[in-house]
Formats: sequence, C-alpha cells, structure tokens
Amino acid sequence: MDELKNSLGYRYLQDTKFDRQTIRRKARLDIAPAQPYKKYVGAEKVVLPTGWDMDRGLRETLQQRRSSRRFGKSAISIKELSMLLWASQGITGRAGNFFFRNAPSAGALYPVETYLSVQNIESIDSGLFHFQPADFSLEKLGAEFVGNKVAEAALDQSFLAKAGVVFIWSAILRRNFSKYGHRGMRYILMDAGHICQNLLLAAEALGLGACPVAAFYDDDLNALLGFDGTEESVIYLAAVGTKE
Ligand SMILES: Cc1cc2nc3c(=O)[nH]c(=O)nc-3n(C[C@H](O)[C@H](O)[C@H](O)COP(=O)(O)O)c2cc1C
Repeated sequence: MDELKNSLGYRYLQDTKFDRQTIRRKARLDIAPAQPYKKYVGAEKVVLPTGWDMDRGLRETLQQRRSSRRFGKSAISIKELSMLLWASQGITGRAGNFFFRNAPSAGALYPVETYLSVQNIESIDSGLFHFQPADFSLEKLGAEFVGNKVAEAALDQSFLAKAGVVFIWSAILRRNFSKYGHRGMRYILMDAGHICQNLLLAAEALGLGACPVAAFYDDDLNALLGFDGTEESVIYLAAVGTKE
C-alpha cells in the first residue's frame, strides 16, 4: 500500500482533486494561455483533399459527434446499452492469456473498470451496477436511484441526473502501476480517453446524446461507489441519454 501511495500517479490524483471546501479558493496557476493553433509561417504547404470516400457511417459518426447535455424522457433500450458497453469495453479478441478489448490499453492491462448509474434504461431498474466484461453482464451493486448524488458529486451538473445512464470509470491503480510504476498514470488516463471516445462514437451512431465529464469531487464520488481512492479511484464519467 505504501509503495502505491508513494507513486507519482497516486500523488498526482491526490494533488489535483476537486473538493467542495477548496474549489472556489484554489489558486490558478499563473500560466499564460497558448494560441489555439501552432503555425509554421513560411513553411511549404501540402493542401489536403477533403472530397474522399470513407465508410459513410463512420464518417458521419465522426463528423456529427457533439457533446449533448439535454436528454429526452424516453428510455435507452437494454440492447442499446449492450452496444454501448461492447463498444467501450467489450472483449473482441484473444492471444494466449490476453483478452483484448474494443479500446486499446497499455500492456493490455485494462486498469479501467466500468460502473453504471442506471437511471432510465428499459427493463433494468435504476441503481448502481458494475460491468463484467468477462461474461458480458451487469453486476447489481445497489437498487437506489443515485443519479442526483452523481450529479451533486459532479459539481452539481444537473444534466447527469437526467441521463438514461451515467458511465463511471474508475482506475485500479495497482493493475497498471505494478508494471509501469510512476509512468503508469499517463497510460491510465490515455486508456480512459480511448474508452470514452469509443462510447461517444457508439452513442452517436445509435442516435443517442452523450457528454464526457471530468469535473467532479473525487472523494464524494469515491465514497458513493465505496472506493478508498488508493486501490481504486474514479477518473472519468460520461452521461448518455436519448435525444430530446
Ligand atoms: C476530459 C474532458 C472533460 C470534460 N468535462 C466536462 C464536464 O465536466 N462537463 C461538461 O459539461 N462537459 C465536459 N466536457 C465536454 C467538453 O466541454 C466538450 O467536449 C468541448 O466543449 C468540445 O465540444 P464537443 O464535445 O461538442 O465537440 C469534457 C470533455 C473532456 C474531453
């Protein structure tokens, strides 16, 4: 446990936490902003073509994805939820003892776990669930509607409570740090980015709205899910719902 707590990754998570007491008082780093585009003025240019063909579905999905924070009253179907889970963390291949997933992971270690706050999914009662990729199932952790608590813990971003489902991704730090040590934190955050992007694209392809969320009170969300923040800690969220 001490080695884990001494890792840069753990200390980084601790030092960058949001909490209600200090969030308004936290001094911003005095770093001047950068220009949005870096330009090599005078460099010879290759103008790239834009009139190419790509699989139409993929092209439109990539083109049209936008964060959506307004959700409709109708429920997401269990089939749609299955597709979202498969796209983000489904097992899609095997080599020896390695089971590969839809999203890449440094060293095929898969340190990110997926939890769901189910809020408006056809034929699944509200509650907190853990996604089990090994047999593609949901493990029920609690039967209470926690959408409001998730929204409160996410800096009171109320749209989270109105989503059909909130994906809550945690990191099992040890799973990655035991191999990559201090550098592991980079890989965990990259893994989470890949997972989330797969989810966002799948949601777009299914005609659902989705929004990634990284502004949350770490300790509050960890407490809600029963994590100690050392072995396991929430790192990212995404709200998904039907469109208005
Ligand atoms: C790491 C990350 C964290 C984000 N956190 C939040 C958030 O807490 N709340 C929110 O409403 N949007 C959040 N967003 C969504 C961004 O605001 C959004 O992606 C950005 O404005 C670009 O718009 P687009 O996603 O529609 O292309 C986050 C996006 C990323 C990538």
